Amino acid sequence: MSNFREKIHSKELIATFDDVLILPGFTNFSPAEVNISSNLGKYHLNLPIMSSAMDTVTEELMAINMALHGGLGVMHRNCSYERQLEMVRIVKRARSFVIDDEHVATISPKEGVAKAKFMMENYNISGIVVVNEDKKVCGIFTKRDIPFFQQDIQNGTIKDYMTTDVISIKPGASRKEALKILYESRKEKLPIIDNNGYLKGLITKKDLAPEFPLATKDEEGHLLCALAISPRFPESSQAQNMLKEIEKYVDIFFIDVADFFKKDDIEGTVKLMKFLESDFVLGNIGTYQAAEYLISKCDFVEERVIGLKVGMGSGSICTTSIQTGVGAPTLFATAQVADAIQDYNKKLSLIADGGFTKPGDLPKAFAAGADLIMSGHFFAGTEESPGYIDTIAGRKVKVYRGMGSKEARTFGYISDRYIEGSKMLTEGVSNYVPYVGDVARVLATLKEGLSNGMIYAGAKSIKNMKDAQLGIVSVVGQRETQPHDLIGKF
Ligand code: XMP
Repeated sequence: MSNFREKIHSKELIATFDDVLILPGFTNFSPAEVNISSNLGKYHLNLPIMSSAMDTVTEELMAINMALHGGLGVMHRNCSYERQLEMVRIVKRARSFVIDDEHVATISPKEGVAKAKFMMENYNISGIVVVNEDKKVCGIFTKRDIPFFQQDIQNGTIKDYMTTDVISIKPGASRKEALKILYESRKEKLPIIDNNGYLKGLITKKDLAPEFPLATKDEEGHLLCALAISPRFPESSQAQNMLKEIEKYVDIFFIDVADFFKKDDIEGTVKLMKFLESDFVLGNIGTYQAAEYLISKCDFVEERVIGLKVGMGSGSICTTSIQTGVGAPTLFATAQVADAIQDYNKKLSLIADGGFTKPGDLPKAFAAGADLIMSGHFFAGTEESPGYIDTIAGRKVKVYRGMGSKEARTFGYISDRYIEGSKMLTEGVSNYVPYVGDVARVLATLKEGLSNGMIYAGAKSIKNMKDAQLGIVSVVGQRETQPHDLIGKF
């Protein structure tokens, strides 16, 4: 039996970002014509960039900002269902021309002022519509109505502090009409009330202004909302009910495990997809065979699987490959799965996840067949990531930790992200990354690296980028493509 030697000698190279360069292509268009938008299933993203479902990267604030800038933030699942519900609600309520009645925060006039204050702080809103027992609007309570003294906040009742003279608008009114009333009344919020006095929605001033023309939105104009989910079907009916409640605000669930090519995870996901109605992205996987199996041999609800996410062990905080000897670096995994998608189901979107360290890595992923990229590394140090800004040796830093690190695992919500029952082996680390300011600035740099790379490659769109040529760089070539032969140190 001489096959073992072949396992080493005749195998393809597992190449990743620094191993390759894109060859320059003929550019027959102007820089302004480059289009970096892409699709995730039926959803259009003006920026093909996503932030990772990690507890030091994406919660509601990151998700809102990623979506406002045209990308997508996938919120993590290392917390209770209650907290997940809170996050997805905040994202869905964050921006739209009209907030429909189901999503408008309401309160009874008999409730305490303290409750309204708590709701405003937790839902990140500045006013609540007051509705009586018949569900008819009887007032509005805004931050400005909160009494000054703590004892009044604690003991006060909404009906004594709310504004009863509610300036409202009728259902079906145009954006222009709404803007006019808001301007004339100098109000921030405009409840939509029908002829019978029932609440039909809410228009807010901040949502009317088209500050973010590239935002990623659902069909109703709300921000697109994505959440990580375990592939295990929840056993208790209470957990199932919570999941249903969460689903009301979620457009896309991202199956969130290190390695999805597992019978139990696949079966659990099949069951979940039958129970839920949102779209799903499956992952992570790393080979052609895994993609082929998922696409052609499993019983998922086909039209609701919109994408595959790839990369294993290549994240900047990952130790899976070191600890277990198994891995599929992102660029390699991307090319593998891109081929399977071409062969079996061209409608699926491909997300290259993790391992990106430089803007120039993005065009390489697209040249290898990705439709979108996902990163934790680029975003963990931003203002919008969860966690405190600390100062170490005079430098501002934030904590960035792998979901397989001991620090992230202590909460007990993600034991099924890795090998269930494995207690002695962590698969990630926790460390500091430099604080880099607003996510908008990070995205602007990535955007420029991507579009400039596309221009050099001669690709006008992400789709064209898939035709760009990649070459393996020799060790000497790698040295030459870095700054070299200078006196200073890098
Ligand atoms: P970057 O390179 O952006 O990678 O830091 C982020 C991606 O890494 C995955 N991830 C992990 N992988 N152990 C792992 O093996 C971990 O602890 C871990 N935490 C996150 C995940 O896919 C993420 O998007």
